[in-house]
Amino acid sequence: MRLLVTGGAGFIGANFVAHLLANGAERVVVLDALTYAGNRANLAAAENDPRFRFVQGSILDRELVEQLLDSEGIDHVANLAAESHVDRSIRGPETFVDTNVTGTLRLLEAVRAHLDAHPGKRERFRYLQVSTDEVFGSLGPTDPRFNERTPYAPNSPYAASKAAADHLVRAWHATYGLPVLISNCSNNYGPYQFPEKLIPLVIHNALAGKSLPLYGDGQQIRDWLHVADHCHALAAILERGAPGAVYTIGGDAERTNLDIVGALCDLLDRHRPLNAGSYRDQIAFVADRPGHDRRYAIDAGKIARDLGWRPRYDFATGLEATLLWYLDHADWVGDVTSGAYRDWVAKHYEGQGA
Ligand SMILES: NC(=O)c1ccc[n+]([C@@H]2O[C@H](COP(=O)([O-])OP(=O)(O)OC[C@H]3O[C@@H](n4cnc5c(N)ncnc54)[C@H](O)[C@@H]3O)[C@@H](O)[C@H]2O)c1
Repeated sequence: MRLLVTGGAGFIGANFVAHLLANGAERVVVLDALTYAGNRANLAAAENDPRFRFVQGSILDRELVEQLLDSEGIDHVANLAAESHVDRSIRGPETFVDTNVTGTLRLLEAVRAHLDAHPGKRERFRYLQVSTDEVFGSLGPTDPRFNERTPYAPNSPYAASKAAADHLVRAWHATYGLPVLISNCSNNYGPYQFPEKLIPLVIHNALAGKSLPLYGDGQQIRDWLHVADHCHALAAILERGAPGAVYTIGGDAERTNLDIVGALCDLLDRHRPLNAGSYRDQIAFVADRPGHDRRYAIDAGKIARDLGWRPRYDFATGLEATLLWYLDHADWVGDVTSGAYRDWVAKHYEGQGA
């Protein structure tokens, strides 16, 4: 595969690039705008690989995308570029529409023009839209889990922008015959996640002696999946997914936010014991997020049946491995939380342009 991975300097993107290079990809080109969430240091291991190229630029730049598809002989696009944080979408929804909706439109149009100009590539070409379970809205405690036939009912500006993008992707398949795939995945955790998201935030705050904020009663349920398992799923979908198909992906690991924070406190008590007391003493309940979905859960039966994918991490093992990664990578966390990662990038890559 010769892949264009948009958003490759983000959390899932960086893990996905490592997965692709470790599993025989012929070429991996990352296109990333390096917003606050993009960190080129996440790709440090890939930078030494001759099969890898980093391009700083936006998915909104259709001309640049078309030029990369052409000059790099791309036959697979995985769109992971996005504004991804729900709280930020509540404070400022416009960039979510720009990046997630208009950005997806521009990518689709670039792919459409490229395949019109190179009809011979159409059969092999795939465009994968990496989406979220948040497009489905909220489940009640006993509702059946989300699957590929669940109607869309997004509640946050983030979820609405991802839902809109998914609809565009679907329409570009039905209308223009684009060989697209859509994946809707549950909450990911693992290395390189920006510490505004629950798990790295809790680890960071706990070690810094700060409070561990939990929205509302902390009983919101998410279905957690290790990012490495998500990356396996994305690769399987690109390799073997049927054009036009949708796959829901999840870890079969429903946990309340309070469960997650409590489990992390217990692990920290073991690995970094305090002189007195428990990290649990730092838990603080704060006013709930408006429109906060109560429960997400995924039925991943179709991807298991059709593509043979199953998560390899059980949640307890994955969570402990993740905690240990953050403990071992205090420099990475420090650079990201202090903003120094911007300087790190400038120091290492100054003058290298794209
Ligand atoms: N994190 C999760 O739990 C999760 C779960 C399911 C789906 N997803 C989806 O997976 C994708 C990646 O999520 P993530 O958690 O890695 O996000 P992230 O915020 O860590 O990374 C997003 C990346 O996109 C880049 N980017 C933003 N705007 C861009 C633009 N206009 N052009 C090019 N690059 C741009 C950023 O610089 C960053 O590197 C998103 O589409 C998200 O909706 C995430």
